[in-house]
Amino acid sequence: MNIEKEYFGQTRDGESVHRYLVEGSRGASVALIDFGAIVQSVRMPDRDGRVDEISLGFDSLRGYLDEHPYFGATVGRYANRIANGRFELGGQTFTLASNNGPNHLHGGVRGFDKALWSGSPVQTETECGVCFKLTSPDGEEGYPGELQVSVLYMLDVENRLTISYEANTSRPTPVNLTNHTYWNLSGAGSGEILGHQLSIVADRYLPVDESLIPTGELAFVEGGAMDFRNPLEIGARFDSVEGGYDHCFVLGDSASEIPRPAAILRDPASGRLMRVSTTEPGIQLYTGNFLDGTKGAGGKIFGRLGALCLEAQHFPDSPNQESFPSTVLSPGDTYRQVTIHEFSAA
Ligand code: GLA
Repeated sequence: MNIEKEYFGQTRDGESVHRYLVEGSRGASVALIDFGAIVQSVRMPDRDGRVDEISLGFDSLRGYLDEHPYFGATVGRYANRIANGRFELGGQTFTLASNNGPNHLHGGVRGFDKALWSGSPVQTETECGVCFKLTSPDGEEGYPGELQVSVLYMLDVENRLTISYEANTSRPTPVNLTNHTYWNLSGAGSGEILGHQLSIVADRYLPVDESLIPTGELAFVEGGAMDFRNPLEIGARFDSVEGGYDHCFVLGDSASEIPRPAAILRDPASGRLMRVSTTEPGIQLYTGNFLDGTKGAGGKIFGRLGALCLEAQHFPDSPNQESFPSTVLSPGDTYRQVTIHEFSAA
């Protein structure tokens, strides 16, 4: 295991950004940058040992400074949507930015994906990675309380990427963190992911309204386009999902202490497989429906359905939905989230 730190560019405020390249086994590597605590690159061998880039990203910092669809980003303070950018907590109404139609999305105008984190390399005998830390001030983007956040990325000798989050607050606040890496196991920029096979350990999902806010119902997946209990090609029932998949699947009624199996993504063409487990009660499947041909790393074009995200998280709009597991973090308590991505090829 090896880690190298290099200069990656400068923010518009003149601050230096660094890239950390973590090398795993059989040519695998993961690169992280301290701007947005972003996963900038994931390279994994296929069944013949051929190593390819399997996540969407940019070669240089510029792409990350501008608007982009959260490539590889750490998303917070609240990942996914909060209806009408508003919630009540402790008898007070809080107003957030509405940056997605009427709703608040992914932490607002300047979410954690646009913050410069402070990174430090971490190395043990079997794992290597980076710990990123950030202080989100009281009132940032409308959220109450100063939040101390850390995200630890560790790659081990088995090519397992573990992401561990922690947060503490000075006032009660909703917290929902996730990683927004876009996966194409055939290789970034190689075309649509409709041929990927997916299974999700969920017998229920959250139906949404036209602005993608959950209706509150936990619907059974039974036999429909949302039924990924057995491996299903993404393209198999895609046409019956209006707009494409952008839904949260229910992994459990609450968060769990230790990660539980959540999803398996397999690409028959390359033989690459990614197994996801998480402590979170939900996982958002997003099939890159809004990707619009952005030019990314290596000059590759990232078009619609060119990658998919599996975002481990709490349910969208939880601050406004009493029946959903609570996302409120109180002073003295610690928010914890662990999500593991295990890569192999056969
Ligand atoms: C999420 C949302 C999508 C979209 C992307 C970013 O995963 O669920 O609707 O906003 O982020 O483009």
